[in-house]
Amino acid sequence: MSNLDYSYTMQQRENRVPLHGPDAFAGMRKAGQLAAAALDMLVPHVLPGVTTERLDELAFEFAMDNGALPATLNYRGFTHSICTSVNHVVCHGIPGPKALKSGDIVNIDVTLIVDGWHGDTSRMFTVGEVSRRAERLIDVTFEALCRGIAAVKPGHTTGHIGAAIQSFAEAERCSVVRDFCGHGLGRVFHDRPNILHYGEAGEGVVLQPGMLFTIEPMINLGKAAVKILPDGWTAVTRDRELSAQFEHTVGVTADGCEVFTYSPAGFHRPPYQLPSN
Ligand code: MF3
Ligand code: CO
Ligand code: CO
Repeated sequence: MSNLDYSYTMQQRENRVPLHGPDAFAGMRKAGQLAAAALDMLVPHVLPGVTTERLDELAFEFAMDNGALPATLNYRGFTHSICTSVNHVVCHGIPGPKALKSGDIVNIDVTLIVDGWHGDTSRMFTVGEVSRRAERLIDVTFEALCRGIAAVKPGHTTGHIGAAIQSFAEAERCSVVRDFCGHGLGRVFHDRPNILHYGEAGEGVVLQPGMLFTIEPMINLGKAAVKILPDGWTAVTRDRELSAQFEHTVGVTADGCEVFTYSPAGFHRPPYQLPSN
């Protein structure tokens, strides 16, 4: 083997996407379901007047009560169990003492580690009455994620996922954030492959059974451009228009994918109907 062949092989090795077996799928199912249950638990608490740090505290307690570890706690200097991204915040909003108010829309993103496996999911929540345009953005973002998930099957590429999301969102006169992407995960939080939420069918990595990754499109009512606030985390839209996001963790199967993070309570998208009694 020549030197060139060797470096090529090493590069392939560097770029390789981990393939996981049935034990990993079982572990991801458990972690994904618990992460989704954490968001379900928060539903009745997302009300006008609640602070995002109270929601963070509830999520932390939920993790502790269920033998899980919040993956974001002390992750690269992040000091909370959830990200709370309100209105024009695109992602990575830091929980704090500011109260939510009627009309706000908020993404809550939680990653729980269960038996070493990572379940990563986020949903939009509405606070009191929200505007029609906010509702529409949430609907478009939810549908964009669904179309991304529907594009997952062996033989397709990561580009098929991005293309499905981008073509739908842009046809709805919304824009796709370019600065953040979905990611492989498993026993590690952020792994190969990157899942771009834009692009062309056929680009990127060929999907194979056993791949584990998130799809987590961030969709804006205005322009796609974002900036990071001086706290080093909070990403906001440059034009201060609304942004929304949903996230699921999936595993590629022989004929499509398994979604690990569906809501056990059926709280898939707002408005969340609480059982009345
Ligand atoms: N859960 C986020 C994701 O979807 C990652 C948050 S990292 C943090 O990948 F440090 F900001 F919490
Ligand atoms: Co993620
Ligand atoms: Co997440």
